[in-house]
Amino acid sequence: MAGKVIGIVSPKGGVGKTTVASSLGVLLAKEHEKPTILVDMNYHTPNVFHYLGLDRHPELTTNLNKMLKLSSPHLSTFCSHSSGLHVVPTSIDFHGEKNISTDRLRRNLNNLKQRYDYVILDSPPGIGKTVKQVIGVSDDVVVVTTPDTPSVISTVSAIRLAKALNTNHHVIINKATGHKYELRKGEVEKMLNASVIGEIPFEFNVMSSAFKGMPATYSSNGFKNHMGRISEHVTGEIYSEETFFERLTNLFRL
Ligand SMILES: Nc1ncnc2c1ncn2[C@@H]1O[C@H](COP(=O)(O)OP(=O)(O)OP(=O)(O)O)[C@@H](O)[C@H]1O
Ligand SMILES: [Mg+2]
Repeated sequence: MAGKVIGIVSPKGGVGKTTVASSLGVLLAKEHEKPTILVDMNYHTPNVFHYLGLDRHPELTTNLNKMLKLSSPHLSTFCSHSSGLHVVPTSIDFHGEKNISTDRLRRNLNNLKQRYDYVILDSPPGIGKTVKQVIGVSDDVVVVTTPDTPSVISTVSAIRLAKALNTNHHVIINKATGHKYELRKGEVEKMLNASVIGEIPFEFNVMSSAFKGMPATYSSNGFKNHMGRISEHVTGEIYSEETFFERLTNLFRL
């Protein structure tokens, strides 16, 4: 069976797309043990390589080119993260082709879908051409928002597009602090007319893992469990939270 393409989008910048995309990728590869690849579609301001600590990977600047030239599902291997997640990172030094047609992108993704159960696309902010492509080629779109009115209002455009393109879509609320001026899950669902599949709290540990080039699932167990529950919506499979003993063992393994 062909794999599933999951697009992580948000018109608003900085709400946590790359944090969610990289953590979901790591979780699917490591905990669900599914062949998974993460593609950085943010050609102009790429971040995936940094969030996964791939800054010095020798193939960093060539991987996107490789994917775009991919004509056979057996052709190439990509960057590999220690979690087992494969990655097509983009580098700030990437000078290759950035104007890719939707047909070509779809063809390349179809090839990846033969090799991977999950292909995750980390999208740029806004609602420009690449974001429209991501929403159009994805089987499932996860729209990330923070729980403030401006962010939720700008999210409407992504939801409308997903509806117009008939793409299955869900919403994640990220960086929730529980402050009284924040919108609640029910209010966000009403404003967007879409279901919220996860509410992730604001946590300094999540920020610090980005600083260290480490997936946030490694530095916050709470964040990992939130992502685990989100992964259940994507995979349709149960995610079992780590026991205290497993957590302790994994701490020593890192
Ligand atoms: N739950 C969270 N708690 C605290 N900080 C977070 C959380 N999620 C993300 N962040 C931080 O917010 C910042 C922006 O996150 P991220 O780069 O994932 O956003 P983005 O939507 O991908 O941004 P862009 O639109 O620029 O691509 C980073 O510093 C990240 O560590
Ligand atoms: Mg990003």
